[in-house]
Parts: sequence; structure tokens; C-alpha cells
Amino acid sequence: MKFFVDTADVDEIRKANDMGVICGVTTNPSLIAKSGRKFEDVIKEITSIVDGPISGEVKATTTDAEGMIKEGREIAAIHPNMVVKIPMTVEGLKAVKVLSSEGIKTNVTLIFSANQALLAARAGATYVSPFLGRIDDISGYGIDLVRQIADIFDVAKDIHTEIIAASIRNPIHVTDCALAGADIATVPYKVIVQMTKHPLTDAGIEKFQADYKAVFGE
Ligand code: E4P
Repeated sequence: MKFFVDTADVDEIRKANDMGVICGVTTNPSLIAKSGRKFEDVIKEITSIVDGPISGEVKATTTDAEGMIKEGREIAAIHPNMVVKIPMTVEGLKAVKVLSSEGIKTNVTLIFSANQALLAARAGATYVSPFLGRIDDISGYGIDLVRQIADIFDVAKDIHTEIIAASIRNPIHVTDCALAGADIATVPYKVIVQMTKHPLTDAGIEKFQADYKAVFGE
């Protein structure tokens, strides 16, 4: 399983990129709004930091296929690494069909059922993004959705759409997604840092330092 970082904060993106663990970025309208910057400015800066797929979403207020296709073409024109994020609706599927026929990569977002993922794949989506954390938030088992989609895509054989496990909230989500067969997990920077930690690693470093200093000094 590969990692993307899920943020529009360029400092976080730089830090995650410097660690060498991420190969792409996902953003959404809420994350862009949180950055307080203009969509185009943030996205351009992100493309200059990470050399991999960068998901930029159509405007939250654009709900018709025609509008999403127009915006999708504009987003794709920003940089060759751009992936157009489209919400999972009938209009969204229509937009995915047109954009994918033009060679534009798409990421169908807000996936909450296996059927939605299957439809998105058949419409030509490059990626589907099941949101497991939001399912857990309402007392469901988000990881079951990721596993179902991975199984269905495996059985189908002719589906090449990749699964981006999204709405990741903690390190256990990441492990579960890797085991469930997600191709990619898009992970908030904070969770990437949490994943580096283990109390035995810290204790081990302290002990090595103490033993070394006891014999050789500083
Ligand atoms: C993914 O593409 C989404 O941007 C993101 O993972 C949503 O996460 P949230 O449910 O924590 O907002």
C-alpha cells in the first residue's frame, strides 16, 4: 500500500515529502478553505513540492455534469500530475465518463458503499475514495467497506481503478487498510507522525545513549 498525504497545508506537505514516504496528495474543499488560500495558488504550490498524483476537487457548489467537466478540464490543465476529484453522484459519473475519455485522471470521492465504488470504476474513474473514518463516526465498520471494494475489484479482473482509503483518523486505520487491500491510504500529516512512534523505540534510543555515554562520555 502506498501513501498520499491528505492536506492542503503546504508546510505539512513539505514535511511529509521530506520523509520520503508519500507519493501523492489529496485535497478537498474543506481542506482548501482551511488553508485560507485560493485553490489555484495552493494547488500550484503543491505540484512544485510533490511529483505524483495531486487530487484537486471541483467546486463544492458545482453539481451538474457540464460544470464539473468544465472545471475538471481547468484543474487538469494546471499540471500533468493533477487528478480531478468528483463527488459520487449521477452527474459526477457522467463527468467522469467524459473526462476519462479525454485522458484526464479522476478520483471519485465520498464513496460510502461498494456499489458506488463499482459504478465509479465502470464510469472510468482512475481512483475511488471510500471514507472509512466517517463511517466509524456513525458507529459503522468503515474498514469492511474498503475490504469489500478490494474483493470486488479483484474478482472483476478487468477493473484497474485504484482504491484510495480516505478519512483516515489513526494509525490502526492505516494498518487495517493495508490488510484490507487498499492500494493507497491518504493520511493526515498528524497520523503519519503518530505512525513513526513506539515507546520501545524511544526507550531503546535512551538506553543506547546512556550506555554509550557511561563508557565514552558525551
Ligand atoms: C479524502 O480524499 C478526503 O479529503 C479526506 O480523507 C476526508 O477526511 P475527513 O473525513 O477526516 O474529513
